[in-house]
Amino acid sequence: MKITYYGHACFGVQLGESQLLFDPFISPNGLASHIDVSDIQADVILVSHGHGDHVADVESIAKRTGAFVVSNFEIVSWFENKGLKGHPMNHGGKWNFDFGTVKYVNAVHSSVLPDGSNGGNPGGFVVWNADQCFYFAGDTALTQDMSFIPMTCPKLDVAILPIGDNFTMGYEDAAIAAGLIECDRIIACHYDTFGYIQIDHEAAKKSFADRGKELILLPVGESLVI
Ligand code: NI
Ligand code: MN
Repeated sequence: MKITYYGHACFGVQLGESQLLFDPFISPNGLASHIDVSDIQADVILVSHGHGDHVADVESIAKRTGAFVVSNFEIVSWFENKGLKGHPMNHGGKWNFDFGTVKYVNAVHSSVLPDGSNGGNPGGFVVWNADQCFYFAGDTALTQDMSFIPMTCPKLDVAILPIGDNFTMGYEDAAIAAGLIECDRIIACHYDTFGYIQIDHEAAKKSFADRGKELILLPVGESLVI
């Protein structure tokens, strides 16, 4: 798979022939001003929760590309009312799509949509095909529920975890989360975008290295092939 970082918590993941996009928040993000939103391809847009810093560009990208939205029932219904296609899920459920299997897993956070509509409960996604498996945690605290992932899903090749603290777990807790999910290679997200979540990159990497884990801080616009 090829993972591209579009800043904050937004990632494109090419899995087989399909292009997955997570939590698009690009046009309002000053750190992603060099990314051309109109260039981003997507077959499916996965939305972890309803906050503006995760949904800002969903509608424009979905309308241009024809991508459908995968999220919880409330968020998918909200986007369907805007004319988008969607596939609703809820916690603990998985579904076999043509690109692979998606499981919607717990996250400890909040979820309300930009107009105040109910955004359901926040989640994360574990996604796999016959060859590879990854976890996109969404905004979350460290939670014991993460320890169910290795019991219920294939072995993770990589995980995308928030590390910015204040609104989500910080890097110290994220390093513990890497242990719970039994994954040695972590890509960081949800850091540096706003003042509350600016972090010391070297200290973050050391927290992971001290536990035998690798923390990858991808520059915005860069890709990693796994
Ligand atoms: Ni949030
Ligand atoms: Mn957020």
